[in-house]
Amino acid sequence: MTVRRYVTALLVLACLALVSSHDQHSPIDIQHYEDGKHNDAFDHAAILGSQEALDEFEKLAPSEAKRKLERIVHNMDLNKDDFVTQDELTPLGSSVIRVTQRRGTGPIMAHYDANGDDSVTWKEYLQKEHDYTLVKLETDRAKDDVDLAQTLQLVEENEMKFRAADVDKTGSLDLAEFAAFTHPYDYEHMHEFEVNMTLKAQDRNKDGSIDFTEYSDEEECNAGDVSEEDKVANQEQFDRHDKNKDGKLDRDEIRAWVLPNNQALAMEEAVHLIHETDSNRDGQLSMDEILDKYTLWVGSAAQTDTLHEEL
Ligand SMILES: *[C@@H]1O[C@H](CO)[C@@H](O)[C@H](O)[C@H]1NC(C)=O
Repeated sequence: MTVRRYVTALLVLACLALVSSHDQHSPIDIQHYEDGKHNDAFDHAAILGSQEALDEFEKLAPSEAKRKLERIVHNMDLNKDDFVTQDELTPLGSSVIRVTQRRGTGPIMAHYDANGDDSVTWKEYLQKEHDYTLVKLETDRAKDDVDLAQTLQLVEENEMKFRAADVDKTGSLDLAEFAAFTHPYDYEHMHEFEVNMTLKAQDRNKDGSIDFTEYSDEEECNAGDVSEEDKVANQEQFDRHDKNKDGKLDRDEIRAWVLPNNQALAMEEAVHLIHETDSNRDGQLSMDEILDKYTLWVGSAAQTDTLHEEL
């Protein structure tokens, strides 16, 4: 990996950190290709499954990174035939990522879990995140105070998200549930909530769908001045999302538009990794082939340091 590519990866990670501090999206949200160039950070994130794991790998010496990678690869090789195939790589999109995600979720959960019982109640979350007791929340809600409106709105959204994440309806989130609360995009059962949030933000006439005006106003807000060209592009985009061509985006169309298709992304990533790594072109990856291309699989800062010394 050249220094330039490494810097690109770091930039992408910096952007990712901004995004995830805002909304805790998983690394799989990083654009796979940027300006037509493949994004290494995406590969690394797909394999390691979390920003934390990625950061950790970046600090390792090459030999140590290879040793760790060897263990990861061994676990990927489900049928233990010493080869990693596309079938074994694709579930990365769900299971491996989920496992590492949960690991990364632990410390975040501990922050909210005031009584340390390995679950977070709404009361605990409300107190830590919004500095509210249930009683004070009720009092403030009754006040109808414009200065409180924004905070109360945020609390309400978090409460809905909390309820959606509380799958077994016990009123508290265990680690698996809390992972879905912090990474809603990656969990099917959180998608209804995400669609609700999109509608809330953009469905101004409250008809339960997003028409082109509502859609393009939002796009224009983000883009500032809009040229004729952009308008045409906007319309084309909208038409692509509007699968049944009724001039508005319904819930299913919104879902397909705003939520990543993790399965397709995982498959695409697997195909790419095999293409880049499979030196003898037998359609499967041996440990040697993977370790040969280990910088593609996991980054290593130490390697960049060596490069600096060479320059
Ligand atoms: C989404 O909105 C509908 C309609 O307002 C509501 O009935 C439903 O409970 C919401 N779902 C979630 C998960 O928040």
